[in-house]
Order: sequence, then C-alpha cells, then structure tokens
Amino acid sequence: MSVTVRAPAKINLDLAVGPAGADGFHELVTVFLALDLYDDVTVTPAPDWSCTVTGRQAGEVPQDASNLAVRAAQLLAGRYGVRESVAIAIDKDIPVAGGMAGGSADAAATLVACNDLWGCGADDDALAELAAELGSDVAFPLIGGTAIGTGRGHLLEPIAAAVELTWVLAFSPTGLSTPAVFRECDRLRAQQRVDVLAPQPNPPLLAALAAGDAAGVGRALRNDLQAAAVSLQPALAQTLAAGRAAGALGGLVSGSGPTTAFLAADDNAADRIAAALSRLPGVSDTAIARGPVSGATVLVGD
Ligand code: C5P
Repeated sequence: MSVTVRAPAKINLDLAVGPAGADGFHELVTVFLALDLYDDVTVTPAPDWSCTVTGRQAGEVPQDASNLAVRAAQLLAGRYGVRESVAIAIDKDIPVAGGMAGGSADAAATLVACNDLWGCGADDDALAELAAELGSDVAFPLIGGTAIGTGRGHLLEPIAAAVELTWVLAFSPTGLSTPAVFRECDRLRAQQRVDVLAPQPNPPLLAALAAGDAAGVGRALRNDLQAAAVSLQPALAQTLAAGRAAGALGGLVSGSGPTTAFLAADDNAADRIAAALSRLPGVSDTAIARGPVSGATVLVGD
C-alpha cells in the first residue's frame, strides 16, 4: 500500500536572468540538465499528514506540513477530491539549499507517487500545472532529461542532448537562500548600473549539446546568478578556480548555488577534479554525477 518515486537533481547549464516582474519573480531563460543524483519519496496511507526525512543533511529539512512535499500531496488531494492523507518518507541524496532543486524534486516525486497511490489519473500536463503552482523548479524533475525553461523557469521545452556529460559536484558546508541570491543579483546590478535586458538564449550551448560536443558545452556554460552567489559566499571563487585548474572543461555555480558543477572530459579527469576539490576548506563533500537522466519514476508501486 506504498508508492516510492525517485526524482533527479538538476543543474543549470545556462541561467540568464532578466528584470524582476511586478510579482517579484525574474524572467529567466535557462537550460536544465537532470543528473543521476536522486531523492526517493515513499507515500503510505496514514490517518494524518506527516513527513520524515533521512539521508544527506536530513536534519536541515522541515519535517512538518511546511515541507513542500506535504504541500504537493495536499494540492493534488484538494484538486482531485481525495479525502485521504499520507505519511511521506523522503530519503535525500540531493543537497539541501544547494541550487540543485532538491526540495522541488521531492515535491515532484510526491505528486507522481500520490497520483499513482490515489489513482487520480492526472496526466503529464495536469501534473506540470500543479508543479508550477508549487514552485518555479518543480516541473523540471517531472520530465528530467535536458530542457529549456522560460517564464519563471517553469515553462519547459525538452531538447536533445547527444552526449552523456560527467560532472563533479562540490557541495558547500552552508546553503544559500534562493530569494537572497536573486536580491543580491539585483543589488549588484543596480550598484554597477547594469542595463537589465530580457534574458536571451545561449545558441553556442544548444549547438554543442545537439552535436554531442562536451568541450563546447564546457565553454558555453553561463550563470547570471553566479556573481551574486560568490558575493554571498566568497569561498566559491576559490572552488571555481580550483576546479578549472584541475582540468575541468568548464565549471559554474548551479542555479542559485552554492553547489558548484564541473564538467569532466572522462572518468579519470572526474576523479582528479574531485580529489582537488575535496581538499578545499570551502567544500564539505564532492560527488560525481552523470546526465541527462529520466524524470520522476515510480520504483515500487502498490
Ligand atoms: O518559485 P520558487 O518558490 O522556487 O522561488 C523561490 C524564490 O526565488 C522566489 O520567491 C523569488 O524570490 C526567487 N525567484 C525569482 N525569479 C524566478 C524564480 C525564483 O526571483 N524566476
């Protein structure tokens, strides 16, 4: 009587940030890549709503109704007239407050798991709409793969990536708040009197992905939030420099950070980069991850 769903982490290969709209959200053009670093979410019928978390940084995640996963289950239940509640068990491997959409992956996995458990029959489009109500990054882990995101980042268009990319991830001992990083980006731009234009796509990146050209992907990586993340966590500058010096094809802060991601030419290069990064005081842990991978997938059903 339980359903377990596995959902992937994301990194942003490109993140172009435009001006903030009246709703406070910034217009984005981004390229998401799903990696084989996963959270597993199990939902089980229970007399009350609950949420428990195990795994990496479990202690830093709210284990009550404020967890986005609980809100996801309650949103689906409300929309489909379900009167049951579930116990949600999250087994985390995606870093918390790391710029890899771990909380969003948990919410996406919960939508898929409860849809299956309750037999709601919500199709992909209906799940994507619910996901967008929960947060800008919740829709992507539903589909995974590689996709361009526009709007708040929630309007997705899958794209082909003709290459499996190997990444070294460097985790930071302290997280960053996404709203704080967007605010810092605005502050730096105002201070430097930057003209903030509508965000533009990144044709060299898209061409390199389509051609399976990993070195081209490495050269075309871009993140408009990187300067803001580095401003809030100055140790990231050293991490970025060390990853490049260790031979990465390219490296950047993932999303709003503070996780940094370095593209490796092969497995040996990945091991060398990970070894160099793991010696840094600003790095709490490293992982090697590959993508693209599929979106949220039912592992065990009832
Ligand atoms: O959509 P989500 O809840 O993940 O967004 C968290 C916060 O990140 C927002 O409240 C906003 O401050 C910031 N954000 C933004 N522009 C976006 C996405 C998120 O300013 N496109």
